[in-house]
Amino acid sequence: MSNNTRENFGSKLGAVLAAAGSAVGLGNIWRFPIETGQNGGAAFILIYIGCVLLLGIPIMMSEFLIGRHTQANTAGAYRVLAPGTPWRWVGRLGVLSGFVILSYYSVVAGWTAEYTVLAIGNHFDGKTAADFPAIFAKFVSNPWKSVLWMLGFLMATHFVVIRGVKSGIEKFSKLMMPALFVIMLVLTICSVMLPGSSEGLEFLFRPDFSKITGSVVLSAMGQAFFSLSLGLGCLCTYASYFSKETNIGKTALNVAVIDTMVAIMSGLIIFPAVFNAGYTLDSGDIGPSLLFITMPNVFGQAFGGVPALAYGVSVLFYFLLVLAALTSTISMHEVVTAYVSEEFNTTRRKAALIVTLACSIVGVVCALSFGPFDGVRIFGMSIFDFFDYVASNIMLPLGGMLIAVFAGWYLDKKLVRDEITNRGTLRASYLRLVIFILRYIAPVAIGLILLGQLGVFR
Ligand code: PFF
Repeated sequence: MSNNTRENFGSKLGAVLAAAGSAVGLGNIWRFPIETGQNGGAAFILIYIGCVLLLGIPIMMSEFLIGRHTQANTAGAYRVLAPGTPWRWVGRLGVLSGFVILSYYSVVAGWTAEYTVLAIGNHFDGKTAADFPAIFAKFVSNPWKSVLWMLGFLMATHFVVIRGVKSGIEKFSKLMMPALFVIMLVLTICSVMLPGSSEGLEFLFRPDFSKITGSVVLSAMGQAFFSLSLGLGCLCTYASYFSKETNIGKTALNVAVIDTMVAIMSGLIIFPAVFNAGYTLDSGDIGPSLLFITMPNVFGQAFGGVPALAYGVSVLFYFLLVLAALTSTISMHEVVTAYVSEEFNTTRRKAALIVTLACSIVGVVCALSFGPFDGVRIFGMSIFDFFDYVASNIMLPLGGMLIAVFAGWYLDKKLVRDEITNRGTLRASYLRLVIFILRYIAPVAIGLILLGQLGVFR
């Protein structure tokens, strides 16, 4: 591993936008509204924000300081900081999680590309609510279409990654993140101005604390992990390209704020439109099919009086999903590419090619699990659901817990302090609180999520 050829992000803004690009993704626009809808609205959001502040930011800071200090890929980072110990398996677990999530995430990312093309071709026009489930079922079960879109998405990711850290990832994030924000703003305004939007707003902002149960808290924590890209060393890898001047605490706060704002804006786009179209949240409308069955119908109904607006809003919405998904797939690809390139001493191009090919194979299997492999069940789940369950519900929380223990207990306190205060040049009055959380609160809380996910409390 030669550090002298390693690239860095060119600017602090570039570093924040790249990390925010990783965090903002399908998790915000797809998973967050589903979780909010299923777990009681505003009460869920409050707990989610609590999880981001209490667990998300300290663990993100740990990933940042581990990556920035070692300037290595996530597996290399543990090898440098804890040579000859089993800690290197935390890094390897992260690389494996990144690989698995990238493979199945690219399938859904491919769907967003197909739906962008459908929206551009005005294919939602004139359809009724009954048509959309059939359109979606036909698409996902078509082995060619979903496989080709998934491969196309991986190729797009590949081309950004091989351009390198500065002229690939950073440049792309600097272009895409502002575009994403503008599109979200336009969509939020359109949705909030719909007649009857107040019902959706009330659902989002008036908490009903009677809805809070243990499982709601567990879901909120799991969602915070997935959404902030925590637990697999993704942000650790990005931080290995941070300059020594980057303020770790401030960057973590910025990324968490951007990610949470985007999640809430997604709620502001989706819920007023869903209520306006007359859906109820306790029906099957708020399920994984939300984006591909409910939303195309919502656009037609909500903006149906002005067909040009319905068209524009649906095109923008699916394009937004493509952008958000792409900045996230790039970050997962980078975790694995940096690992292969540095640990096996290959060029970045060759490493990226190996990663893209390997992910394509697993991705094809995941894509086909909606069609020809539909009958294959692992522990009662489809192949796609199995990968999603194991990666997001087990591997990420486990990785996050180990990262907290590593930074809180194993690492020398002076190293942690030096990284967070940039060798004493920054004030960080929150340092002791962060270390306390890493030592005690995060391992216990995440341990509970894990046991909860494994069904121990059922
Ligand atoms: N945070 C991304 C999202 O919300 O869609 C998903 C993700 C990206 C998870 C990168 C993990 C990761 F390393």
